[in-house]
Amino acid sequence: MEEAAKKKMLRHFTYGLYAITVAEDGFYNAFTANWLSQASFEPPMLMLSVENDSHSISIIRRTKAFSVNVFASGQRELAGQLGRSYFRNPQKLEGLNYRLGTNGCPVLLDTLGWLECRLTGEIEAGDSTVFIAEIVEAGVLNEGMPLTMAEAGFRHSG
Ligand SMILES: Cc1cc2nc3c(=O)[nH]c(=O)nc-3n(C[C@H](O)[C@H](O)[C@H](O)COP(=O)(O)O)c2cc1C
Repeated sequence: MEEAAKKKMLRHFTYGLYAITVAEDGFYNAFTANWLSQASFEPPMLMLSVENDSHSISIIRRTKAFSVNVFASGQRELAGQLGRSYFRNPQKLEGLNYRLGTNGCPVLLDTLGWLECRLTGEIEAGDSTVFIAEIVEAGVLNEGMPLTMAEAGFRHSG
C-alpha cells in the first residue's frame, strides 16, 4: 500500500468534532473525538472509536455510559484543550460551564447540545476500540453551526 495515498485519502474524510464526557464515582472527564458516526435510526445508535491508551476508555467500559457534546463553530480552542491527555492534564473540566446529565456524565453548556449514550457493544480496532451505543437522552442547548475538522484544521486521521 502506498502510505502517502492512504494518509491523503483518509484526511479527505469529513468529520465533526465532539467532546465525549464520562463520569465515575464523582470523577469527571472529557476528551475530544472526531471518529464518531450515527450507526442506526431505530433504535438510535452511534459508534465511537476510542484510543486504547486513553484514560477514559476504562471508565466507559465500567460504567457503560458516555455523553457526546457537539462543539459549536468557533470552539476550536476548547476542542484542542480537551484533546490533550488526561495523564498530563487531569483537570480538563476546570473552569468549564457544565452540569450533570441523566446518566451522570457532564453536559457542556456552551456546546450546541448533547446525546447521552448507553454502551451496547465493542469491537477491537487496532490501537483503538469501536464502541457501539444506544442514544437514550438528548438535549439542544444553543443554536448555531457545528465545529468541523475542516474549520478547526486539526489532523486526527491518516
Ligand atoms: C482533533 C482531535 C480529534 C480526536 N479524536 C479522537 C477520537 O476520535 N478518539 C479518541 O479516542 N481520541 C481522539 N482524540 C484524542 C483524545 O482527545 C486524547 O487522546 C485524550 O487524551 C483522550 O482522553 P483522556 O486521556 O482524557 O481519557 C482526538 C484529539 C484531537 C485533538
